[in-house]
Amino acid sequence: MSLYSIKFLFGIILITFTFQARSSNIILDPSIVKAPSIENLPVGKEGEEIRYGFELLSNTAKYLGPKGSVSSNTKTRMSCSNCHMDVGRKDFGNSWLDSHGSYPQYRSREGFVITLAERANLCFTHPMNGKPLPLDSREMRAILLYYKWLGVNRPILSKDKDNRLVKLPFLDRAADPKKGALLFKTHCLVCHGENGQGTLLTDKKSYSIPPLWGKESYQMGSSFSRVSVLARFIKANMPYGATAVSPILVDEEAWDVAAFINSKSRPMWSGKLPYPRLYEKTYDFPIGPYADPFTPTQHKYGPYKPIINYWDADLDVGDITNIFSQEHIILSAQFPKK
Ligand code: HEC
Ligand code: HEC
Repeated sequence: MSLYSIKFLFGIILITFTFQARSSNIILDPSIVKAPSIENLPVGKEGEEIRYGFELLSNTAKYLGPKGSVSSNTKTRMSCSNCHMDVGRKDFGNSWLDSHGSYPQYRSREGFVITLAERANLCFTHPMNGKPLPLDSREMRAILLYYKWLGVNRPILSKDKDNRLVKLPFLDRAADPKKGALLFKTHCLVCHGENGQGTLLTDKKSYSIPPLWGKESYQMGSSFSRVSVLARFIKANMPYGATAVSPILVDEEAWDVAAFINSKSRPMWSGKLPYPRLYEKTYDFPIGPYADPFTPTQHKYGPYKPIINYWDADLDVGDITNIFSQEHIILSAQFPKK
């Protein structure tokens, strides 16, 4: 059975047994240009290279995984598209629609300005536990061409029209891994497995359902190891079939199940410690040290509002969603120096 028929089958099971669409306050802006279809690639050499980029991002393990046919860049058999839904074309599915226009960008986690190629390589190194692609390789050029093609015709969007991940209001309490464990059993275990291990395709070279923890899952310190980033992804994408306009979990459930998944073990951050400027460390980064008096547990699971209030000088914290709409500003400027 192909990867797509497996997903389709699970989708049907899911819709039959668990689908309970809940109304949401997300309104997609019709002025935002939709993702182009891979059927409409330009003809000729350029179209071929874009298609190659699409292939690499869709079936990463086949080409660049531990037994990859091109090279062995990742230690996991996951694919980029396991986290960047519909190969980066799904609104609020960790999309790449605006990536081409958003770089170079200052990143507080790295502490310097990076290009889109370097940002893509950070996903090779961290969630994928691997090594970067050479910047001048055919593979990196094809990936960049794909991003450029995705971004064609898109207006330069202001950050509050950001469609990478949904906004999610903070809870007043800490996110609770115990409550999350029960939610995992009800909503996730059927696909991701009892031990969050996922399922490999029969050739054992790549996953049909990716793992959520364990040695082939994303590293501690990569973006998903932040409970807020994972919860925002889950809200609009999981269980498989959820979207921003038809989410399946309520906000609280997304926070708790994200806390549960991030309470599990995973490979540690490799390389030099992130956030060279401690005062720029984001509120829910799960690895210390911290430049404030809050405990590591509070940084990991919340409640986050007291941490944000402590650091905030300029942001309007009265409007919590405003904090999220400023996520990229937070990412870049992070917290002002105390
Ligand atoms: C119907 C099967 C199914 C269910 C149920 C499901 N998932 Fe997934 N999940 C998938 C598939 C398939 C992918 C990979 C997406 C792709 O490649 O398009 C995925 C990807 C993910 C990812 C990103 C990749 C990774 O492994 O880190 C996370 C996180 C995730 N799921 C969490 C959850 C959570 C939490 C639940 C329960 C609330 C859940 N999933 C329920 C099928 C499912
Ligand atoms: C385990 C999940 C996961 C996997 C696998 C993954 N990524 Fe990511 N990626 C993320 C998250 C989470 C973000 C940051 C989202 C945010 O904070 O807005 C991100 C961000 C990015 C960005 C920056 C997008 C932007 O517009 O700022 C690029 C580019 C990227 N990833 C490329 C890749 C590539 C290439 C691969 C495969 C080699 C890959 N990713 C694999 C989770 C993942």
